[in-house]
Amino acid sequence: MKTVAVVGSQWGDEGKGKIVDLLAADADVIVRFQGGNNAAHTLVVNGEKFILRLVPAGALHAGKVCVIGNGTVVDPIALIGEIDELKRRNHLKDDGLLRLSYDAHMVMPYHRAIDRAREARLGKSAIGTTGFGIGPAYEDKMSRMGLRFDDLSNFAAFKEKLERNVREKNLYLKLVLKAKPVSAAEIVEQMRKVRTRLTRYLGDTSVLLAEAIAAGQRVLFEGAHGVMLDIDHGTYPYVTSSNCGASAVFGGAGVAPGKLDCVLGITKAYTTRVGGGPFPSEMKGKLAETLRVEGDEFGSATGRPRRIGWYDTVLARHAARLNGMWGLALTKLDVLTGIDPLKICVAYELRGRRYSEIPPGRHLLEKVKPIYEELPGWREDITQTRSLAELPASARRYLNRVSELSGVKLAMVGVGAAREATIVIENPFRA
Ligand code: GDP
Ligand code: IMO
Ligand code: MG
Repeated sequence: MKTVAVVGSQWGDEGKGKIVDLLAADADVIVRFQGGNNAAHTLVVNGEKFILRLVPAGALHAGKVCVIGNGTVVDPIALIGEIDELKRRNHLKDDGLLRLSYDAHMVMPYHRAIDRAREARLGKSAIGTTGFGIGPAYEDKMSRMGLRFDDLSNFAAFKEKLERNVREKNLYLKLVLKAKPVSAAEIVEQMRKVRTRLTRYLGDTSVLLAEAIAAGQRVLFEGAHGVMLDIDHGTYPYVTSSNCGASAVFGGAGVAPGKLDCVLGITKAYTTRVGGGPFPSEMKGKLAETLRVEGDEFGSATGRPRRIGWYDTVLARHAARLNGMWGLALTKLDVLTGIDPLKICVAYELRGRRYSEIPPGRHLLEKVKPIYEELPGWREDITQTRSLAELPASARRYLNRVSELSGVKLAMVGVGAAREATIVIENPFRA
């Protein structure tokens, strides 16, 4: 298959970055199509760790075209920082290989200020956002007051729009949120530098992708976040402000429906989430702490400890249905080593009734009780295994049960953070 989308099937941090980096070896173009620097995708290559937030996780393979599509919201200062850091580490040498859609919206300092001030005021019922201004930036896009990279082409007109926005946002910050206003003059100066640094990357990325697909090139779409953080299909309002599934590829990259051959769902062998909101299979106590430490479950964007839970196949079926998944890449199986027994959530119970799908009314996720199936664990170190046959029988049984209950075949299994610590059953680009 030639065009593949990687999507998160839980609450993010499933290991999308690692799998995108692995698949990028076979791709010509790697594309981000939604989200912003609230994403944090970790890659471990030759013992070196990289965290990518806006630059596609194909950037560590020389010669690949990396595209940041129109559906993303881009903090230009964060992007420049990321580009500089990658260049410092000897990557992204050819500026011609990074393309940024001129239709992408910019995250401005006032978006960050609003995001943080709102969260502070919400107190206990805060969403637990990353504080990077993502929600406010998408709001402005929808209300048609957003600033796009395209606007930088006429700096005088851009400055006028920016100053008008700052006037409105400062009223909101001061009068409603009781927060500090931002300085228009400072932002204008920052944006002058942004214009100098980023103009070279701008282009029509929809046309670029259409041409690449027509030429038979392989294109890899890199989803951010996960289906349960999707603005429509997640645990609203404890979600992010974009669609995070495969359907977002079309609008967010400017690619026609029908041009996507395959969706690969990324799922962790257990479940995590950062921030507030319902989490039916959440575990508390010592076991959660063990998994948090063994799995290094601390947010890569904000350093917050991730909440931990058992694998939830109700949510897996939800994600599979919404995305039409061809296969699953299950990561972090190695982290479950030594835990016995293992539990898989197979359904929910609510007021004496069993539900194998999320009960109608997403708010009910706060109230459901998980129904678990227990499976035996294993003790053997599996980090060096590179085929299913080398895994202990109980690890294979766990994988089979997850795949069976999720209704999706297994394509890959992660047994360590490094690029090569992966059992590849079927590579979608070679299928
Ligand atoms: P993403 O946001 O979906 O790309 O995931 P993150 O990078 O935020 O979080 C996944 C974490 O798990 C990162 O620290 C990865 O290096 C690590 N990781 C990915 N796959 C595996 C795996 O199979 N085993 C282990 N032990 N770690 C993994
Ligand atoms: P990756 O791509 C995990 C969560 C935040 C918060 C909610 C809203 O690395 O999987 P936002 O700043 O987006 O308005 O915050 O969404 N969130 C993520 N959690 N991984 C992510 O991205 C996330 N992106 C957003 O923690 O609960
Ligand atoms: Mg992440």
